[in-house]
Parts: sequence; C-alpha cells; structure tokens
Amino acid sequence: MIQTAQRLDGIGEYYFSKKLREIDELNKAGKNIINLGIGSPDQPPHPDVIATLQEESAKPNTHAYQNYKGSPVLRSAFSQWYRQYYGVTLNPETEILPLIGSKEGIMHICMTYLNNGDKVLVPNPGYPTYSSAVKLAGGTTVPYELLEVNNYEPVLEEIDTAGVKLMFVNYPHMPTGQLPTDAFFEKLVAWAKERDILVIHDNPYSFILNNHPKSLLSVKGAKDIVLELNSLSKSHNMAGWRVGVLVGHADRLNEVIRFKSNMDSGMFLPAQLAAAKALLLPREWYDSVNFIYKNRQKKVFALLDLLNCTFSRQQAGMFVWASANNNSTLSNNHELGAGGFLSDEVLYKANVFITPGGIFGSAGNNYIRVSLCATEEKIDEAIKRIKENL
Ligand SMILES: Cc1ncc(COP(=O)(O)O)c(C=O)c1O
Repeated sequence: MIQTAQRLDGIGEYYFSKKLREIDELNKAGKNIINLGIGSPDQPPHPDVIATLQEESAKPNTHAYQNYKGSPVLRSAFSQWYRQYYGVTLNPETEILPLIGSKEGIMHICMTYLNNGDKVLVPNPGYPTYSSAVKLAGGTTVPYELLEVNNYEPVLEEIDTAGVKLMFVNYPHMPTGQLPTDAFFEKLVAWAKERDILVIHDNPYSFILNNHPKSLLSVKGAKDIVLELNSLSKSHNMAGWRVGVLVGHADRLNEVIRFKSNMDSGMFLPAQLAAAKALLLPREWYDSVNFIYKNRQKKVFALLDLLNCTFSRQQAGMFVWASANNNSTLSNNHELGAGGFLSDEVLYKANVFITPGGIFGSAGNNYIRVSLCATEEKIDEAIKRIKENL
C-alpha cells in the first residue's frame, strides 16, 4: 500500500474542489445550479491585453524558458502600478518578484521561512490557503479572530506572540469585505517590528469596489518587516492567467527565490508582456470593472434581504459577507453553524449555491458569502428561485 506523506495529514481537498464536484453531480441530475459561491471573475480582460498575448505568442522568439525573476518589462510595469496607485516606490530590479498567481507565493513564503513547529498567525475567518500552506511547510497555525464588533481587525494587544515568526493579514479582507484604515496599518507595522514578526500582507482585492487602494508597504519603515502579495486575478479579470507578484525588501525576495527557482522555470513571456499591458491600463479600466460589480452588489443586497440576513453595505472585494441570523436548533446543530444551514437550505431547495462562512474558519460559522462573479440575470434568477422555494 502506498501511503501519503505525513505532511498531508489533516490537509483535505480544497473545499471548492469538492463542492464543485457535488454541484456537477446535481447539474447532471438536471438541477441547473446557479453558482454564487466562487470568486472567479466572469468578465474578460481588456482587449489590448488579449491582443498583446496574441501578437507576442505569434513571434518565433517568445517561447523559451524565462528569467526566474520575471521579465524586466513586467517588473517595471508593477513598479509603475505601485507608484501610481499605492504611492509606494519599489526598485524593479530587486524589490519585485512576479509569481504564477499569488496563491503559489503563499506556499513559497511558508517553505522559505518555516521550520517544523514555527508558529504563524492566520486570520479566522480567512483565506483557507494560509493555514494549508503553513501546515504543509511544517509550521503551526495560530488563528486570530476577526470579529464584526472590532471591524474585523485583530485585537493586537491580546495576541500571544511567543514563538510566532510570520503573520498573514489581508485587507480588503476576504471574506468579510472589510477595508483597512491607515491607523490600523500603522499600528500593525509598529507592533510587528517590536516583536520581530514578518507580516505577509495579501492584497488581491484592493481595486474591487474600492476607490482608494492601500498597500501595507506605504507605512513608513514597513519594508523591514512586511512582504506584500498582489495579483491580477481579480483587478484585471485574469484569474486563469496566473499572474501575481511578491513585493518587499530585496533580501527577503532573494530568500524566497532560493525556494521558488527550484519549483518553477519562469512564466510564459507573452503572458508576462500582456500582464504588463494590463497594469498600465488607465484608471477607467477599474471604473468599468467596478460599474458592473456595483450593479450586481445591489441585487445581491436584495437577495440577502430576502434571506433575512444582516450585512454592511460598505464592503470591498467581489463578495458580500452577511450574518445568517438564525438561532434555531437545526442551525446550531450544523457543523458550519447558521451559515452552513442556510447555504444547504438555499442549495437543496432553490438550486442556488452560496458559500457557508464557516469554511473560512469557526468565526465565520454564522455567516454566508455571496459572490459577485455572476451576471445580473443570474442573480435575478436566484432571487426568483429563493422567493418561490424558501
Ligand atoms: C484572499 C486571497 N488571496 C489570494 C488568492 C489567490 O489569488 P491568485 O489567483 O493570485 O492566486 C485568493 C483567491 O481567491 C484570495 O481570495
């Protein structure tokens, strides 16, 4: 019998990969499920981005292995993007490392810094990949709770930091849609510096339903203690392209490259050049993306009103996070709380899939998360089904 490695103990298949299989089965049985679960943009990238990919890939000399540090054209575009939108100056030669999506960067960072048993602070609720990557790299997760009453900010004074080496933070926060404040960012950097904790800020949502993108690196002195992940997946409708970036101190990036350069052999050059094109699009690009999300968001608010959920109308990112407001015994008995119960009800009775908040950690148990990556027509249809069947 072949045994899997111990590092996989306690690591399940990614929730969505399992759930999408169940939805496939339901669809095969004729259910025609409306998926308001997953955050994969359904709109295409800008036409100039596609044209660049086409033109560059038609050339004979763009097909070789690429530089481990990414194309200078892409690094320079990331540098301009950070200066223009975040007010952060980065040296394109040394402080920018393109990634095959930011998800892989989370793993590279854990593999670069963690020894067995090293502690890592992860948000609860939060993106599940932080915990999986920490565990796969041999580290130990120390979840910190993010509560609505605290505006989904951690109470730093209450966190036990003994033995903590890294901390993952993510604002605008997924799944709660919470925006960061300057005061919180400044406090976080000072706190981490005092304790010698490397803060990994994961920042893929700053352009979605938010007119003031912020980088944690904009805090004075942050480069000493902060690495930031960013991505074109959401901001440029390029999730399937797999283009992200790690930015921060040159020494840190060189450390990460020691691991990463043993994992992959660079990215397809035409994809990098097209990504550079995307980064240099005018501001109107983001307005056009957000116009669509704003209209969908209004409809999702109506859907959530119908389900008697409560929620903030000031959320950023491509989801709406809402409290399921149900204290029935049935709800309390569900392993994912009231949110899990409501998600099942809506899936099995109305053929609409919404994500139970509990998959992002126990503090999300009474919540649900609705994606804005579905057309207004689909959301209207979901509303109709919920009205008719719940
Ligand atoms: C908080 C968060 N970080 C990172 C990612 C990964 O994005 P990428 O496509 O850049 O790997 C996601 C994707 O859903 C996310 O929600």
